[in-house]
Amino acid sequence: MKTVKDYIRTIPDFPHEGIMFRDVTTLFSDPRGFRMAVDQLLHPYVGTKIDKVVGLEARGFILGGAIAHQLSIGFIPVRKAGKLPGKVISQDYKLEYGEATVELHDDAIQAGEKILVIDDLLATGGTAEAGIKLIERLGGEIVGCGFVIDLPELGGRKRLEALGVDVKALCT
Ligand code: PRP
Ligand code: HPA
Repeated sequence: MKTVKDYIRTIPDFPHEGIMFRDVTTLFSDPRGFRMAVDQLLHPYVGTKIDKVVGLEARGFILGGAIAHQLSIGFIPVRKAGKLPGKVISQDYKLEYGEATVELHDDAIQAGEKILVIDDLLATGGTAEAGIKLIERLGGEIVGCGFVIDLPELGGRKRLEALGVDVKALCT
């Protein structure tokens, strides 16, 4: 039987020469692959109270939206700076070269709500850490962080676990 990993395509030299880009569009476009990814991301949290799913831009929206729908709960986007129309809180984070900023609507999460964070891929953990900080600034409690892919050599899992966050990934 095929596993989630079998549906992920690797594109060499994207977006820069020397980068092996893990492309999940082929996972999302396959009905069995997409269902498998959503079900497996949800599985560890069956029976756990979750109030909202937060998805990280951009592929976290696709997975997180499907998971929120499956749980019949709300979905909240963490977006790159300048995209959300309402009042936001912002968090800077470091990229390999330079800095970036992510934002969250300041009324998107109520204090004490249990939040599941979802994205396609964990690399350095900078994006997820920034998202976690935004959620925690609003008083949200992180139930866990789910990813399809963990690139362990980039240290993201250790970085998030050092924050006390439960990290789950479907493959490395
Ligand atoms: C990718 C990926 C994660 C992030 C992981 O998104 O989808 O969100 O990088 O990297 P990190 O763990 O080192 O922070 P990207 O920033 O390429 O944005 P996009 O999804 O909007 O293309
Ligand atoms: N795929 C998608 N996003 C990424 C990757 C990748 O291989 N590496 C860092 N962010």
